[in-house]
Amino acid sequence: MKTVHERQLAQPLGYGIGNTPLQAITFSMQGVAHTIHLKLEGFNPTHSMKDRTAYSLVQKLEDQGKLNENSTIVESTSGNLGVAMARLCQLKGYKFLAVVDPKTTAENLAKLQTFGAQVDIVREPDENNGYLLSRLAHIQKIIVDHPDYVWTNQYDNPANPSIHYSSTGPEIYTQMNQKIDAIFVPTSTGGTLAGIGKFFREVLPSTQIIGVDAFGSVIFDTPSAPRKLTGIGSSRRSTFLHKELYDEYVLVKDEEAFAFCRLLFASTGIAVGGSSGAVLTACARYLSQHRYAQHVVCVCADHGDNYRSSIFNDSWLKEQALELLEAHLGNVEQISL
Ligand SMILES: Cc1ncc(COP(=O)(O)O)c(C=O)c1O
Repeated sequence: MKTVHERQLAQPLGYGIGNTPLQAITFSMQGVAHTIHLKLEGFNPTHSMKDRTAYSLVQKLEDQGKLNENSTIVESTSGNLGVAMARLCQLKGYKFLAVVDPKTTAENLAKLQTFGAQVDIVREPDENNGYLLSRLAHIQKIIVDHPDYVWTNQYDNPANPSIHYSSTGPEIYTQMNQKIDAIFVPTSTGGTLAGIGKFFREVLPSTQIIGVDAFGSVIFDTPSAPRKLTGIGSSRRSTFLHKELYDEYVLVKDEEAFAFCRLLFASTGIAVGGSSGAVLTACARYLSQHRYAQHVVCVCADHGDNYRSSIFNDSWLKEQALELLEAHLGNVEQISL
């Protein structure tokens, strides 16, 4: 007989979203080979886990009867959610406005246009060295001035964590045959971490749930500082994250995350984005201290093709004065399939 979670998996979300692969790789560290399972969310239709979030946010507006033929859905996004929303809204016939900032990659801007989104770029940084607060202020003004604009509000909407509780978490649980020691999850809104954390607290509470954030982000109440990593990190705290949903958090520097992206690609051909590099960094640190952890999962939130002109471009790294060194890989000597 199928469990409730296996029954959920049997019903795909639709629009080609979810049921992404789990890929095993090996970290060679101080003579020990550690197997790590990558949950490759880049296999979603717009190449990030934000296809799931977009699906859930739009579904909720539909369920609440908040959309009609005059509506424009608006959302603040540093990129991936915007692209996911743009595709889904185009497929469903809704207008969509993405409020982005100068850190949005050229690749994501092009995709937003391909999927027919309107784009507003907010250029004024906020007091925490990010753009989030500026983007939110811009949206507040729009929805006050234009009643036909409907804000999905990924930062406060329970539909954000709930899709990771009902799809991402159960997929990992089933793909790992219900044996998981630790899961590393990148954080920005905190929706993914909160949803996966809640799911595993219920089905396998021994699983260590580890939030991964960018050095300089304030999600876990750490000091703000400039950062180059995108997707991960935030200039305000998450409304979804409560201490009981995760065990610890790890802060990762730009160079560490980018060094892992480059080594993973060079040695396996798997291209992932900066937040996935951060998650691999955190995982490597954890394995240095927990040599016997066997069933380890890294949530790789997006595909590396979004970062061809940044993380995977030597000239860009040079312009940013980022030098990637062996020391940034911690104890990892080699990565292999
Ligand atoms: C690449 C990437 N990694 C991590 C995250 C963080 O996910 P969440 O907002 O669910 O915390 C995002 C969110 O946009 C993302 O695009």
